[in-house]
Amino acid sequence: MGCVNLVFFMLYTFLCQLVFSSALPHFCPKDQVLALLQFKHMFTFKTNVSDICSFSNPKTLSWNKSTDCCSWDEVHCEEMTGQVIELDLRCSRLQGKFHPNSSLFQLSNLKRLDLSYNNFCGSPISSKFSELSSLTHLDLSYSGFTGVFPAEISHLSKLQVLRIWTVDPYGLRLGPYNFELLLKNLTQLRELYLDSVKISSTIPLNFSSYLTTLQLPDTQFHGVLPKRVFRLSNLEDLSLPYNSLNGLIPSNVSGLQNLFVLYLSSNNLNGTIPSWIFSLPSLQYLDLSNNSFSGKIQEFKSNNKVYFASVKQNQLQGPIPKSLLDLKDLQFLILSQNNFSGQIPSTVCNLKTSRYST
Ligand SMILES: *[C@@H]1O[C@H](CO)[C@@H](O)[C@H](O)[C@H]1NC(C)=O
Ligand SMILES: *[C@@H]1O[C@H](CO)[C@@H](O)[C@H](O)[C@H]1NC(C)=O
Ligand SMILES: *[C@@H]1O[C@H](CO)[C@@H](O)[C@H](O)[C@H]1NC(C)=O
Ligand SMILES: *[C@@H]1O[C@H](CO)[C@@H](O)[C@H](O)[C@H]1NC(C)=O
Ligand SMILES: *[C@@H]1O[C@H](CO)[C@@H](O)[C@H](O)[C@H]1NC(C)=O
Ligand SMILES: *[C@@H]1O[C@H](CO)[C@@H](O)[C@H](O)[C@H]1NC(C)=O
Ligand SMILES: *[C@@H]1O[C@H](CO)[C@@H](O)[C@H](O)[C@H]1NC(C)=O
Ligand SMILES: *[C@@H]1O[C@H](CO)[C@@H](O)[C@H](O)[C@H]1NC(C)=O
Ligand SMILES: *[C@@H]1O[C@H](CO)[C@@H](O)[C@H](O)[C@H]1NC(C)=O
Repeated sequence: MGCVNLVFFMLYTFLCQLVFSSALPHFCPKDQVLALLQFKHMFTFKTNVSDICSFSNPKTLSWNKSTDCCSWDEVHCEEMTGQVIELDLRCSRLQGKFHPNSSLFQLSNLKRLDLSYNNFCGSPISSKFSELSSLTHLDLSYSGFTGVFPAEISHLSKLQVLRIWTVDPYGLRLGPYNFELLLKNLTQLRELYLDSVKISSTIPLNFSSYLTTLQLPDTQFHGVLPKRVFRLSNLEDLSLPYNSLNGLIPSNVSGLQNLFVLYLSSNNLNGTIPSWIFSLPSLQYLDLSNNSFSGKIQEFKSNNKVYFASVKQNQLQGPIPKSLLDLKDLQFLILSQNNFSGQIPSTVCNLKTSRYST
């Protein structure tokens, strides 16, 4: 009898599971719940935040065992399996050391991880980030990480977006070889943002051809700005200001149909400013100030989308091209500290709301 009951009971629970598993979304697996709670308990909450995060609530406060972890704030699960695939902990007021073997690294299905705007109190970036091998998006900006950026991050072969903006200049370092490795191995990389991270190398030649954004201001790049950068046909934003790059902008570039930001200010670039730049069909923001560009700016065929153009602090000569003043959407035109000559074309009066300065 007992045996029949047992069989019946097993059949019943099996059927129940069958019904429930098809009717309800899967729950967050227990090991992931534990990993998340363990992570939460590693930190205290910064109560007094006066910065950009002042309107955000500490998201992990809502994390507790009484509810499914897939319903916790900023935790996103895969619908079918219940695996945690996304953690958005931006501005979560987390404060404390980030353990090199943090339980976070057990969430091996994570695709997106945003830890920006927290305070990990100068912790190093653990090489175990490389175990999150499904990551496509990683943001460690303004989170108080310091030290050497681990080479192992280049194992994250699915990474598409990597963002590390810092306030503390050069608190984070990335050896020259590691940077090259990063670009070589991350073949899916689309957006790379490293601000005030000390790289101190030349710009390597091997890039993912998918790159749309290359924002590397104040990273101590030196050497020649490679022509190859201008052949990245998907590029939308090329921002390399405050480095020590030299050499010329190639006179002969096709492609770059989508480039809308070209920000190369405060380098040592020289030669002339080629007129193709002003003709780029998508260009809106152009800053070439504080370099050593010389010669005349040739007249060009305008794209009429540029709203900001600065060439100040160079050694440009000759007349100010009329085409520049004909740009329909131009709002900021900064030409000061050059050696322009001739008359300012009368079309300057056609500019709509310009702050025009020479
Ligand atoms: C909060 O921070 C502000 C400025 O950062 C400071 O003036 C104030 O005294 C702080 N308040 C507390 C309670 O710590
Ligand atoms: C657990 O989280 C739920 C939902 O966020 C909340 O209503 C409840 O008060 C929490 N329980 C504890 C013990 O913190
Ligand atoms: C890291 O943590 C995991 C899970 O808690 C544990 O199994 C492993 O032994 C730890 N590794 C080290 C090097 O501490
Ligand atoms: C590139 O990444 C793969 C993993 O995707 C790794 O096995 C390999 O060692 C990496 N190459 C280098 C040179 O680090
Ligand atoms: C770029 O990388 C490929 C393969 O990873 C290699 O064959 C090629 O030589 C590299 N090119 C340069 C210029 O480093
Ligand atoms: C411009 O590009 C074409 C085709 O790539 C090449 O044949 C030509 O030599 C280049 N001209 C200059 C001035 O670099
Ligand atoms: C001009 O660029 C140099 C580096 O090339 C930098 O040190 C300097 O601060 C810049 N000047 C201005 C006014 O931005
Ligand atoms: C540009 O600068 C380099 C040195 O960095 C110099 O050799 C070259 O002659 C300069 N070119 C022009 C056109 O000024
Ligand atoms: C500015 O241009 C004039 C002639 O156009 C030239 O005589 C002068 O040397 C130039 N000054 C500088 C600093 O290049």
